[in-house]
Amino acid sequence: MAAEDLYFMHHGLMLPKETHCQESLAFAQDFLFEDNDAIAVTYPKSGTVWMQEILPLVLNEGDLTPILTIPNWDRVPWLEEKRLQEVVDQLPSPRGLVTHFPYQFMPPSFKTSSAKVIYVMRNPKDIIVSSYYFHQMATFLEDPGTLDEFIDKFLQGRVLFGKWTNHLKSWKRAELGDRILFITYEEMVQDLPSALRRISDFLGKNLSSEVIQKIADTCSFKSMQANVMSNFSLISKDYMDPDKSPFFRKGVAGDWKKHFTAEQVARISSTIYKELEGENFTLPWTLDGAADKGLSNKMSALEI
Ligand code: A3P
Repeated sequence: MAAEDLYFMHHGLMLPKETHCQESLAFAQDFLFEDNDAIAVTYPKSGTVWMQEILPLVLNEGDLTPILTIPNWDRVPWLEEKRLQEVVDQLPSPRGLVTHFPYQFMPPSFKTSSAKVIYVMRNPKDIIVSSYYFHQMATFLEDPGTLDEFIDKFLQGRVLFGKWTNHLKSWKRAELGDRILFITYEEMVQDLPSALRRISDFLGKNLSSEVIQKIADTCSFKSMQANVMSNFSLISKDYMDPDKSPFFRKGVAGDWKKHFTAEQVARISSTIYKELEGENFTLPWTLDGAADKGLSNKMSALEI
């Protein structure tokens, strides 16, 4: 299907019609945040579904009931999606939510509340790869074309939720102060218990090491891949087809090395560095590492 049949524009943001509509966006604008809400903010393919597993477990101190009984899209709904209206009244307090919105799309009540934000950042090169495969399996998304074409679309922001750099810049704002925690997908892959400790401390949960370890085991790639409430096996194959590419595809940092040429890496890094010039933050990864020199074992965590 052509892009115009699948997507619509909302104040310059490209959104899929299947999951979003004007009514859901109006509902998001009127949504009333509560001070004890916790919202995970992600650019698509940065670990959203992972946070839909982590948030309820941390907020409920390791109780497995929500993640074993409620599909991820209902237990920690997207602020902007149609589904929120159906489930909002059933969300237990404290509520967990997710959003792909850039900051300026957040509703007024978010800005006046003290709801906490966990922003999950992922290396954009791995986002491109993950998103490329996701576009192949999700029939409600446009065919990605070749990987090279998809890289250009990503860099030009002709993708869902716009440019990655704009998304990140929008959330790097001083006024959020200690309401926001930045965490990387890569640190979660490298040492999930430590990442969970940061998240739980941030949310004011004093969890024992046993509970942290239990949550880490439950949120491992393998466990989530097997959890029917999280692995999208409840969704029709006409909508998401795991035979084309599974949702739980690889779950690693640095898969881009198996996909990009040195020229593609240079194109991605130079575009992104240029767009971030003059910003008062630096990225936790170097983006211009050699693509195909077999350095993966020697590279530091920050070079992924
Ligand atoms: P890959 O396609 O690289 O495997 P999102 O939920 O934002 O759409 O992100 C999806 C990406 O997160 C996929 O990346 C998926 O495999 C990865 N992911 C989900 N749960 C994970 C987990 N428990 N551990 C590691 N990666 C996970």
